[in-house]
Amino acid sequence: MDDLHASPAESPASFWESRYSNAPRVWSGRVNQVLADVAAPLPPGRALDLGCGEGADAIWLAQQGWNATGMDISATAIARARAAAAHAAAGGAHYLVSDLSQLPSGVYDLVSASYFHSPVELARVEILRRASALVAPGGHLLVTSHADFPPWAEKPHHDHHFLNPQEEIDQLELEPGQWEIELAETRPRQATGPQGERATLDDVVVLIRRR
Ligand SMILES: C[S@@+](CC[C@H](N)C(=O)[O-])C[C@H]1O[C@@H](n2cnc3c(N)ncnc32)[C@H](O)[C@@H]1O
Repeated sequence: MDDLHASPAESPASFWESRYSNAPRVWSGRVNQVLADVAAPLPPGRALDLGCGEGADAIWLAQQGWNATGMDISATAIARARAAAAHAAAGGAHYLVSDLSQLPSGVYDLVSASYFHSPVELARVEILRRASALVAPGGHLLVTSHADFPPWAEKPHHDHHFLNPQEEIDQLELEPGQWEIELAETRPRQATGPQGERATLDDVVVLIRRR
């Protein structure tokens, strides 16, 4: 969430490619804690990570026995993800460069979207709704999102409404009776800002299971 002053008119592919190619590394390289906490008790199967960035979540999933596919619009992010997976010998982690306006076919036991936000155009709701259709019976959709701006963010020019857990669920327009809500909550997390600032940030965590 440090890209708050992007031009909204910039194409998503161009914005994110610049974001990644202008830095040797953007994210920590560690699994998102929410994903690790949520997925640890699940039986491994097929997983899809939407907007996977530099690929750490798919690597962690592969290390737990999942066959994990990460998708991201940035070729640089995906090249880094593939290199990291090779370095970690995580053979079950696979990556695709893709604009998620085009979702893959197939079904998945876990579809995860971690901090799938963007300061430029992103049809997030539509993508998450269509991604829910890829969840296998008994499988899960996990959406982890920012509950607010971090304290180190400059005041954004644009209004941004952060969804609470119930709003995150409501916007998915799930088929009645087909899903169980397993988690809908706000969770604190320790984070480090660009200047090494420490802060407790809140995440919105929604985990739903297809019956
Ligand atoms: C805030 S980052 C989160 C990255 C990663 N999930 C993580 O937790 O570190 C959002 C990611 O979504 C990707 N993204 C944005 N729009 C996209 C789109 N239309 N299709 C695919 N990926 C997209 C960006 O390239 C970026 O890697």
